[in-house]
Amino acid sequence: MCKIVEKREIAPRTKFLKVFAPEIAKKAQPGQFVILRVDERGERFPLTLADWNKEDGTITLVFLEVGVSTRKLGELGKNEVILDILGPLGNPTEVRNYGVVCVVGGGVGIAAAYPIARALKEAGNKVVSIIGARTAELLIFEEEMMRFSDEFYVSTDDGTKGYKGFVSDVLKVLIQKGHRFDLIYAVGPAVMMRAVAEVTRPFKVKTVVSLNPIMVDAMGMCGACRVTVGGKMRFACVDGPEFDAHDVDFGELIRRQMAFLSEEKMALECWEANKRTKEA
Ligand SMILES: Cc1cc2nc3c(=O)[nH]c(=O)nc-3n(C[C@H](O)[C@H](O)[C@H](O)COP(=O)(O)OP(=O)(O)OC[C@H]3O[C@@H](n4cnc5c(N)ncnc54)[C@H](O)[C@@H]3O)c2cc1C
Ligand code: FES
Repeated sequence: MCKIVEKREIAPRTKFLKVFAPEIAKKAQPGQFVILRVDERGERFPLTLADWNKEDGTITLVFLEVGVSTRKLGELGKNEVILDILGPLGNPTEVRNYGVVCVVGGGVGIAAAYPIARALKEAGNKVVSIIGARTAELLIFEEEMMRFSDEFYVSTDDGTKGYKGFVSDVLKVLIQKGHRFDLIYAVGPAVMMRAVAEVTRPFKVKTVVSLNPIMVDAMGMCGACRVTVGGKMRFACVDGPEFDAHDVDFGELIRRQMAFLSEEKMALECWEANKRTKEA
């Protein structure tokens, strides 16, 4: 059991949790994730390590409440416990001095991009960060990302802050203006990562994405997180979650993410109805 030591809402439906999990904090590296189960009846679901502190034994999770599991987690308060957290899982980001790197974070993926931008900066890279969200109030981790960026750009789909448009549009403009990147790293919704891959493909800039398929066991045994990369079947939980963006079959990833939409909708409706009954 892991105790929540800090909890904040940092944007609408977006929660920040600091959890006491010293064994995970001790081993955590950028790009890794954990699998959680909120209670005995809960399903297992993955969240990226947005930060960790080896000294006080905490890990930071930032998540968007989209369905039953994330809603349940979001309802837990400070000093309450999460039944189990397994990790760190997944292969860490390959951090080395590439030269000039561009870190692109979209939506809640900005929190996942943060430890990667920090590690790349600490490894001596020039870091150019582009973060974006649908609207200004959904932008998170701005100060954190800015702290480890040599150049920093913001975009919102509706133009309420920064450039009006997508993070991939900002990246395209930078490349067209002559910015040279040795590596692009993108994390966020699959459609965003696909757009980034399409921007960089003609310029042949190495682009790494962190994939987020549905996961169940996160042990490479159930096959839920199956993705096609370079024509080969890979399991994002053990082979990833990071892959070469230009090799990823994003169409398949997006289709598989939506495979259980009606079941997920029904589960959420049942959970909300139960909650209303208990509260009445
Ligand atoms: C390696 C990895 C790291 C992740 N890190 C984070 C993170 O740091 N913060 C965060 O908010 N989310 C993260 N996710 C996504 C998160 O795991 C899902 O949002 C969560 O499992 C949804 O569970 P739920 O029961 O609340 O919603 P569900 O009822 O399962 O789903 C509700 C809605 O969310 C969509 N959804 C479900 N799973 C995913 C997914 N994996 N990616 C995108 N959409 C999904 C469904 O299609 C549906 O529309 C990560 C996913 C992976 C694979
Ligand atoms: S989640 Fe089961 S194989 Fe990856």
